[in-house]
Amino acid sequence: MKKWYIANFKMSKEVEGEQSIVSYAEKFIPLVEDVEDNIIICTPFIHLSEAVCQFLDSEVMVGAENCAQWEAGAYTGEVSATMLDKAGVKAVILGHSERRNYFGENNEIVNKKVKLALKNGLIPVVCLSFESEEEFTNTLKDQLDEVLTDIDSGENILIAFEPTFAIGTGKALGKEEVKEFTAKIKEKLKEKGFDLPVLYGGSVKPDNAKDFVDFAGADGLLVGGASLDPEKFAAICKCTQA
Ligand code: 13P
Repeated sequence: MKKWYIANFKMSKEVEGEQSIVSYAEKFIPLVEDVEDNIIICTPFIHLSEAVCQFLDSEVMVGAENCAQWEAGAYTGEVSATMLDKAGVKAVILGHSERRNYFGENNEIVNKKVKLALKNGLIPVVCLSFESEEEFTNTLKDQLDEVLTDIDSGENILIAFEPTFAIGTGKALGKEEVKEFTAKIKEKLKEKGFDLPVLYGGSVKPDNAKDFVDFAGADGLLVGGASLDPEKFAAICKCTQA
């Protein structure tokens, strides 16, 4: 099965200007030409059109970092899933812990967004969030039940788990932990009749990526900081080739 390597640029300084997307694509595309796995670059809204243009002739897909929970209408400052689709975007990160913690998103809102993303042909990258192993164990079933409410098990959805303490801290989970958490998520998904790719995120770097995919059995990686450097992210996308 093809793996999934997803860059989440967030609102980083490195991507403040449109030119940064152009030069990123120029460096990145040749580096991943021989990669057969799925690669998605998720950028801030303002750079999506430029990113779609830059990656048009490559296999690299472009994703957004969020979308609105409403279909359309008077929601100042929001961007709908339909707008993303019409802009050529293929995927959208939903329920990232930064959205949950700073913008009050909960599983119910994430579920609405997942449905709208699917309705518009986007691949939702649904993030599970937790602050400790205990919270992971206690909330996993509820998080999955709530974000996947009324969603058909045949839908094309990616599940990403990111412990908040591992995000941007350099303190990635160990490979044994990633293996254990991945297996638990897959087991719970199976109980619900779903068979979805499960991705790990949190301080993924070129030197730990292979362990998470090869050893721990994650179906892919969601990468923040290291994805801002095209060489590092390309190395992550090629981790299983090494
Ligand atoms: P870092 O890779 O910077 O830890 O960020 C992880 C993340 O939040 C990706 O969505």
